[in-house]
This record gives sequence, C-alpha cells and structure tokens, in this order.
Amino acid sequence: VTDEMLARGFGRDSAVIALGGGVVGDLAGFVAATFMRGIPVVQVPTTLVAMIDASIGGKTGVDTPAGKNLVGAFHQPAAVLIDPAVLATLPPRELRAGLAEAIKHGVIADAGYFDRTVDALPQLLATGGATGDAMQLVIDGSVAIKRSVVERDEREQGVRKILNFGHTLGHAAEALSGYSLLHGEAVAIGMAVESRLAEGLGLAESGTADRVRMALSRATLPDRMPPSLAADRLIALTRHDKKTRRDRVEYALPKRIGQMAGEDTEWGIAVADADALAALSSSFGTNHGC
Ligand SMILES: NC(=O)c1ccc[n+]([C@@H]2O[C@H](COP(=O)([O-])OP(=O)(O)OC[C@H]3O[C@@H](n4cnc5c(N)ncnc54)[C@H](O)[C@@H]3O)[C@@H](O)[C@H]2O)c1
Ligand SMILES: [Zn+2]
Repeated sequence: VTDEMLARGFGRDSAVIALGGGVVGDLAGFVAATFMRGIPVVQVPTTLVAMIDASIGGKTGVDTPAGKNLVGAFHQPAAVLIDPAVLATLPPRELRAGLAEAIKHGVIADAGYFDRTVDALPQLLATGGATGDAMQLVIDGSVAIKRSVVERDEREQGVRKILNFGHTLGHAAEALSGYSLLHGEAVAIGMAVESRLAEGLGLAESGTADRVRMALSRATLPDRMPPSLAADRLIALTRHDKKTRRDRVEYALPKRIGQMAGEDTEWGIAVADADALAALSSSFGTNHGC
C-alpha cells in the first residue's frame, strides 16, 4: 500500500481512510503511522469487531509469520465514523465474533453492561438485529469502555493491559488454528480458559468462569479449546506473545465480572506455565458450529 501511495505521488499532506474491518483498520492505520513519518488516518469500521474495538485506541499493525502484533505503531485516528447500518450485510459468524469483544468489555470494566449485553444477545443474534436498539447499546457501551481505558493509559504501561483479557491464550489459539478461528472466536475460548485460570489461582470469585461461559454460550460463541490444538504448543505460543516477561507469561485476569485483578501489579499477572496448562487441560472439547 505504501509503495502504491508513493508511486502515485501522495505526499505529507495526504490522509488515509480505513474503510473496512479490523484487518483493514490495522493495516491502513500502520501505513498512515509510517508513511512520511505519519499522516492522519480516519477509521470507518465496517465490522462489529472494528467498531467496538479495533478502530478505537490507536493500536495499528501488521501480522508476521512469527506471530500477531509483533510489528506495529500507536497512531490515534483523527476521527472514527461508525455507521451501524453497514452491519446489515455482515455474516452472522463475524457478528458473533464482535460480540465476544463486547462480553470482554463487560467482564473487564462494567458488570451492568455485561448483564445488559447478555440480556440483549437473543435480539442481537436475530436477523435484522444488527441495526436495532440492542446493537446501539453494545456499540455505545463498548466504545465508552474502550475509550475510557485507553484515555487512562494510551501506551499500555498499566490499566490498558486489562483489554488483553482472553487474548494471551486467544492469540495462541488463533495462530495455532492457522487463523481458521476468527479473532473473536479465539478470544471467546481464551476468556473461558483464562477465567477458569483466574479461579484456579484464587484470584477470581468462584462462579466467574461459569458466568463467562454462560454468556459465551448464549452468544453461540465457542468456549472449548479445539482438541486439534496441542496444549504444549499453545503454551509455547503464549511465550511469543509480546506480553512475556522473564520466565512467566503475563495475563490479564478477572477478579469478578466487571473488575479485573492485579491493580497492585499494574494489571499484569505473571502466570507459570504449569498453572496455565492445568486450566487448559480441562478446557478441551468440541464446539457447536465452528
Ligand atoms: N487494533 C486493535 O486494537 C484491534 C482490536 C481488535 C482486533 N484487532 C484486529 O482486527 C482483526 C479482526 O478484525 P475483524 O473481525 O473486523 O475482521 P476482518 O477485518 O477480517 O473482517 C471480517 C470479514 O468481514 C468482511 N466485512 C467487513 N465489513 C463487512 C460488512 N459491513 N458487510 C459484509 N462483510 C464485511 C471482510 O471483508 C472480512 O472478510 C484481527 O486481525 C485483530 O487482531 C485489532
Ligand atoms: Zn481482540
């Protein structure tokens, strides 16, 4: 994209409009961040994942064979324009993947929003639900949560880490599946396993993992790790994740629905491989529909 822009004579006074899902937003944002050392980007997200998550907060990047999110830049958009009407053509599987990030926002920051989202799931999943009041609730609620977290910690030195809930094992599953799992599906499975891990470590109130799994199943999202993904390879992949520190891997783990653990460790919880393996071992199973 950069070569094409240079070939066509775009200069420092140009801007990039990212019209598409999270992949387009991350790529176009990264091009804008680096083109002539940075030109403005306007995010116009067209998937639910991009509307409520990827377009907000300025993280941009491209995936490399070594792993996700190893090459990127922080580049805040000049504007984000969200028109929920475009969701009318989004395939249902992609819509559900977006709901995983909405459930995540509830778990990490707002129990009331979690409950309202879970209540609205049947309407959100119904044909035509894409543009109704329930969808507006999710877009408004999730954008507000993501925005408030990023405003407090733009560069992920602290509280922004809570947005990684479900993503340490989720990214590993996404990569190991050869990207046959959608990002949101992998994050759904990651949240199910990581909330079980949080309970196992005594960090989360008992019942937290069950409530997360109940929400995922109501959203018809996967909550079991596919048996085709080997536990030791998943653990190895969590080490490639950028969240690795010393000989332990850093996770974002819940305390209860609406609140994360780790306030005194800047929101990152160092977890030994053995503990992650224990949570994983009881999490394999077959999911319906994916
Ligand atoms: N930067 C961030 O903070 C951040 C946050 C979350 C996810 N991400 C990244 O975003 C990516 C996932 O984004 P995604 O879920 O939007 O996937 P995607 O960009 O691959 O889009 C999903 C599919 O939907 C199609 N599509 C897009 N809009 C449509 C519409 N309105 N109607 C019909 N089809 C449409 C796309 O062509 C694509 O085939 C992952 O790579 C993930 O890592 C980044
Ligand atoms: Zn995500």
